[in-house]
Parts: sequence; C-alpha cells; structure tokens
Amino acid sequence: MIKACLFDLDGVVVDTAKYHFIAWRSLAEELGFEFTQEDNERLKGVSRMKSLDILLEIGGLEFSDDEKLAMAEKKNTLYVSYIERMTPEEILPGVPEFLQELRNKGIKIALGSASKNSPMILDRIQLSGMFDVVIDGNSIKEAKPNPEVFLKGAERLGISPENCVVFEDAVAGIEAARNAKMYCIGIGEPETLGMADLVIKGFDGFTVEKLKKAIETS
Ligand code: G6P
Ligand code: MG
Repeated sequence: MIKACLFDLDGVVVDTAKYHFIAWRSLAEELGFEFTQEDNERLKGVSRMKSLDILLEIGGLEFSDDEKLAMAEKKNTLYVSYIERMTPEEILPGVPEFLQELRNKGIKIALGSASKNSPMILDRIQLSGMFDVVIDGNSIKEAKPNPEVFLKGAERLGISPENCVVFEDAVAGIEAARNAKMYCIGIGEPETLGMADLVIKGFDGFTVEKLKKAIETS
C-alpha cells in the first residue's frame, strides 16, 4: 500500500542540470580545460564536493582542501545566480498535477535531494507548500547511494519504507532507494536506469492509478 512518495529534486521536479553544467563549465574554463555535456552526466545526483572531485579528475588537476572549498563556493555562487531567477514555468511537465493528485488521495509527499539549494529552488518554483517533509543536502551526512536521505524522509513522515515510493533520475539515487528497500521509479531512459522497478519518461499523464498497477504487477 502506498502511503508516501519521495521525490528527488534535480532532474525529477525541475531541470537544474543545465545550470549546474554552465556553472561547472565556467570553473573548468577558468582552470584551462574543457568540460562537456557528456562529462556533466557524471555529476547527476552527486554531491557538490564529489562533483568537484570528478571535474578536477577530468582536468587532471589536484588542489588542497581549502582551494577546493573556495572553488566549490565560487561555482555555487554562479549556480545560485541562475536558480534565483527560476520560475514555476520550469517545473517539469505533469509534476504539479501528480503532486496534487497525491495530496487529494492523502498520500504524503517528501523531498529527498542531495542539493543544499533545495529550499531556494522549491521557493522559486512555488512548490514548498506541496511537500510535507523536505530532506536535503543540509540535513544528511551520507550521499546517495547511501539510503539516509530517503530513510530520514520516511521517518519524519512516520511511514515505514515498504509503504514508500521513490522517484529518481540518477543511478546513485535509484541505488539509494533500493538500499532503503523502497519501490523505485526511474525518470529517464530504461537503458540507464535499468535497476529501477519501473522507468517512465516523465510525469506527463502519470497517475496514482498507473503507479498502483505497476506495483501490483511487479
Ligand atoms: C543534486 C544534483 C547534483 C548536485 C547536488 C548538490 O543531486 O543532481 O548535480 O551536485 O544535488 O547540489 P548543490 O545545489 O548542493 O550544489
Ligand atoms: Mg536528480
């Protein structure tokens, strides 16, 4: 029985990957190497500092911890300058309708994101009020694929993991959901998200009825 749905933010509710990309690419340019869209795929669902490590590995560069903190800060300042201007129009298709249906049916809603900027993004896209609980990069110690973010969400909602469904676009996030023993729906392509229980392209036309059917037949 479904009692709660837990949503990743970036790539599930909104497409922030493009802003992360511009900001990381700008840092790479400054450091003198190229950072491509393909490279950016490796950063999806990955924490800020881990993303920087991957970026520097691509550039073949090494820095001290203090230098890395300053770089991450710089990237984030640029990133924030983009997301500050986000509007509800950037919510991915079908998301508001699906969230509303969950609310109408009494199913709880939580956010489970690695992003420390989650509260600002939710505010800008005017969705803060839709989430019963928000667990983000400020409230977790362990990054996905560790299940902490989703287990905390379930705990705060007072709902057991077996009654939770996770929506995720990143491989690490799907692993986290599986590690939390939650039913997991991948948002994207089956080729990349094969370990999810079900993969859908997005929320356009997706309903609680379809979700229930998928769970019954799995
Ligand atoms: C999400 C995104 C990642 C991002 C991470 C941290 O998981 O998919 O690309 O690096 O959040 O985001 P932040 O806003 O805290 O830098
Ligand atoms: Mg994501």
